[in-house]
Amino acid sequence: MSTLTKISKAELHLHIEGTLEPRMMMDFALRNKVRLRFDSEREIRRAYQFSNLQSFLDVYYEGMSVLRQPEDFRDLALAYFAKAHEQGVVHAEIFFDPQAHAEREIRFATVALALRDACDLAFNRWGITTCLIPSFLRHLSEDSAQRTLDEALSTLEAHPGLFIGFGLDSSEWGNPPEKFSRVFQRVRNAGLHVVAHAGEEGPADYIRQALDILGAERIDHGVRCMEDPELVRLLAREEIPLTVCPVSNWKLGICKTPEQHPLPAMLDAGLRISINSDDPGYMGSYIGDDYDFCFSRMGIPQATLERLARESLEDSFLRSKSKILA
Ligand code: ADE
Ligand code: ZN
Repeated sequence: MSTLTKISKAELHLHIEGTLEPRMMMDFALRNKVRLRFDSEREIRRAYQFSNLQSFLDVYYEGMSVLRQPEDFRDLALAYFAKAHEQGVVHAEIFFDPQAHAEREIRFATVALALRDACDLAFNRWGITTCLIPSFLRHLSEDSAQRTLDEALSTLEAHPGLFIGFGLDSSEWGNPPEKFSRVFQRVRNAGLHVVAHAGEEGPADYIRQALDILGAERIDHGVRCMEDPELVRLLAREEIPLTVCPVSNWKLGICKTPEQHPLPAMLDAGLRISINSDDPGYMGSYIGDDYDFCFSRMGIPQATLERLARESLEDSFLRSKSKILA
């Protein structure tokens, strides 16, 4: 294991459903009597040939159909924390997709409380601190997001501090941030943090919308900002954190080869960047592997990556958690 794997870091962009390993998928399917179209781990892995974001999301939503019981969410998160601990994670901000589970009639509170149990265990076992960030699925309607927010806010009333903000994820093209302007107005009014996936596959303008219309404090991915030099200057000047996921970008065809990833140019432009894994169960790369990938395949110097690890801790919402709990 390299020194980059072990250095202390925060993971700020991680979908807990994306940590589902093929072995776990088989085990959960068995214990919940869910029929999968796969008969073995090998068959599952063979389906992981992604050509773009949507081809991944189709498999990702199919995979999470095995998550049915609170213990599935808890076990899934615990397995991630064990792995993250091995790879130097001391703080993790965990996304989850409540609307994807509502489809199977699993309530927001069921998912969030099960994840919180795992977070408590992670703290007791490994000293890992955590925050939960539910995300709206942008391919669904504004109405669906509003109903999810209703349920989330009433859960938060009963369990103060259970989650600290909202994100926006799923299919980017045709689902601009402005579609959710009223939803995120309510999120901000509730005193919660805002993050949003933008400029992963979608245009640079979606990054502007996420900042200007949603009030996003961090941009998830944001790699396509490089197509808008004025936006790059703004992001650099305002030190807006971009949570970049290099291996995920490569596997989803955002860049054709690791060498073509815009990360070196983004660093040269003075952007504020953290390295993250996104969906490690599907990408075959946990966060420490992503750091190694930046070093070995993209030529990012070790000292730069050590700085990014330090800054990832500063870009976390950890400091404001005590404010939210108060
Ligand atoms: N949900 C899980 N992974 C995602 C990604 N890379 N982009 C958008 N939504 C996602
Ligand atoms: Zn993501």
